[in-house]
Amino acid sequence: MSEEVKTFKVTIDNITIDVAPGTTILNAARQIGGDVTPPAMCYYSKLQGSGGKCRTCLVEVAAGSTADPRPMPKLVASCRTTVMDGMVVKNITSEKVTDARNGVVEFLLLNHPLDCPICDQAGECHLQDLGYEHGKEGTRYKFARRTFKREDIGPYIQLHMTRCILCYRCTYVAAQITDKRMHGVVDRGDHAAISTYISKAIDNDFSGNMIDVCPVGALTDKTFRFKNRVWFTKPVDAHRNCENPKCCGKATLWLRGDEVFRVTARKDEWGEVQSFDGKTGWICNTCRFDKKKTSDWTIEGPTTISRHSVISLNKYETLEMPKETVKEVMHGQEPKLLMDIHNVSGVNKPGVDLSKLQRPAVSTDFNNGTKGS
Ligand code: SF4
Ligand code: FES
Repeated sequence: MSEEVKTFKVTIDNITIDVAPGTTILNAARQIGGDVTPPAMCYYSKLQGSGGKCRTCLVEVAAGSTADPRPMPKLVASCRTTVMDGMVVKNITSEKVTDARNGVVEFLLLNHPLDCPICDQAGECHLQDLGYEHGKEGTRYKFARRTFKREDIGPYIQLHMTRCILCYRCTYVAAQITDKRMHGVVDRGDHAAISTYISKAIDNDFSGNMIDVCPVGALTDKTFRFKNRVWFTKPVDAHRNCENPKCCGKATLWLRGDEVFRVTARKDEWGEVQSFDGKTGWICNTCRFDKKKTSDWTIEGPTTISRHSVISLNKYETLEMPKETVKEVMHGQEPKLLMDIHNVSGVNKPGVDLSKLQRPAVSTDFNNGTKGS
């Protein structure tokens, strides 16, 4: 007899779901989907050890478990807290969480410049989305913002440290996906910064994936910088037979007409790189930076953009015609009959078909025409 799989019941914002033991609150919420899922600026399910840095995913645990239903005294980071059987969690239903998240966003924006109009990440920036939802008009911060010089991280990537929120995702990419990690967070506290040691260039085959995981515009693609706004480009799914065995060869091409402006990995609804056959879909630098012609790729079709961000605008996969309501409200009358002068108005003489006249209609064509003629 097969062993019964034990699952834990967790209720998030009044929705109850069964999940496997060891699942974090954030991943349980992702299984429900939609608004109950907390935002995550540093957690990235495909990068081991990520999470616990940004505090955007804070939630309130109103009951710890069935065995111990006491609430947790403080808000907890949902990406780092695993569920217990009978746990009750509040995210959007908690005023405390909304208040704390407003504070976290204000804190993230202490140093982050509001340069969205010139930032390449605009339109697909998670911090921009959070700013709209939780941002305040002003800041209480009295000190000057940290500023840094722009730094080239290898031939393809530029680092704007002023925009970095120190989520550490890029360092995990460097440590876990590229062959040799050459950059990391140097210094601590207010001086902490992402940098390459002694400005060593990163030219590893998979370094471009750091751009994809960066939630803000701190790491940008030098081949795309300032060339276009993402919402003017049309994303399509495409693949090629890449010779690099570690590269999945499946990407999103961002087109304008036939021109490929940039190539990125394919993202899921959480803004993370998708998985294919259980393997994470990282792409190599050759696919990302060198294959910039549509003829290099087999195009599969338009990318489905599920994020609510501005990049989803004007990306129609199928055209849905609006519902025809005229017949309904006109008691079954077809729209064209509304314009049929013969049936509706009856002003012309029965033997005269006005629409077939090869001349302008004159008074004698109408029923009362004789009177005035
Ligand atoms: S550069 Fe981007 S990915 Fe790297 S730590 Fe900063 S915000 Fe995170
Ligand atoms: S996503 Fe949980 S702390 Fe950043």
